[in-house]
Amino acid sequence: RNYLYHPTLSSTNDQAKESARRGAPEGTTIVAEEQSGGRGRLGRSWHSPRGGLWFSVVLRPPLPPARAPEAVFVAAVAGVEALAAYPGVQVGLKWPNDFVWRGRKLGGILTEVTGELDQINHLVVGIGLNVNLDLQDFPPELRTGVTSVREITGGDVSRSELLRQLLAALEHWYLVWLKQGFTPVLAAWKRHNACLDRLLRVLTPEGELVGRAVDVDADGALLLATAGGVRRVVTGELQVEG
Ligand code: BTN
Repeated sequence: RNYLYHPTLSSTNDQAKESARRGAPEGTTIVAEEQSGGRGRLGRSWHSPRGGLWFSVVLRPPLPPARAPEAVFVAAVAGVEALAAYPGVQVGLKWPNDFVWRGRKLGGILTEVTGELDQINHLVVGIGLNVNLDLQDFPPELRTGVTSVREITGGDVSRSELLRQLLAALEHWYLVWLKQGFTPVLAAWKRHNACLDRLLRVLTPEGELVGRAVDVDADGALLLATAGGVRRVVTGELQVEG
């Protein structure tokens, strides 16, 4: 496996995209001890101090770019399964890409794709997990919404061991996705979900929606039962209200 470790990077996703452009083989994994410009979904920055696990993997699935959004679910299921090996770290998934524990965010996934109309060139899957971190390692405004493996278990875990387990789980679910399609991936995601049947407030690019999450459809979109009927949410930010 092509595995590259950096003490500091701006963003492992950027580095992985650059390597992929230069022809890095599938499976190339970029890890950084800390990121100075870590990126989250929806153009946000991602706080990435020393002690967390910040990495990105280059994939080259033989699929059209329209199917790239499914990769978030592949990575989410892999992450939950790897974390389940740690006693007490029963993590849930908040649509589409958050790892949550008791309503607090433990980590997230950022996938980025490059390709032509009919074929993905490369797909970068970036995963960030708050591992050996204290709440004090986060800026005050983030502290109420986040947690870490250390906060949950009261101790430190080996990040290299966690990374090994994550990569093994990612490989497993990636192959399930390629060989059996999205259906079994989505079924596994639903088993671990922490947002279906919950009352949600969703910020979408078109405005705010409030409703109960009834399902995730075959394309990975969230179906929300609102006062105005069932709405299909493709991108947005969830807040669990009840
Ligand atoms: C989110 O929840 O908004 C997604 C966060 C993804 C963070 C990871 S850390 C490794 C990789 N490099 C980045 O710059 N972002 C992802």
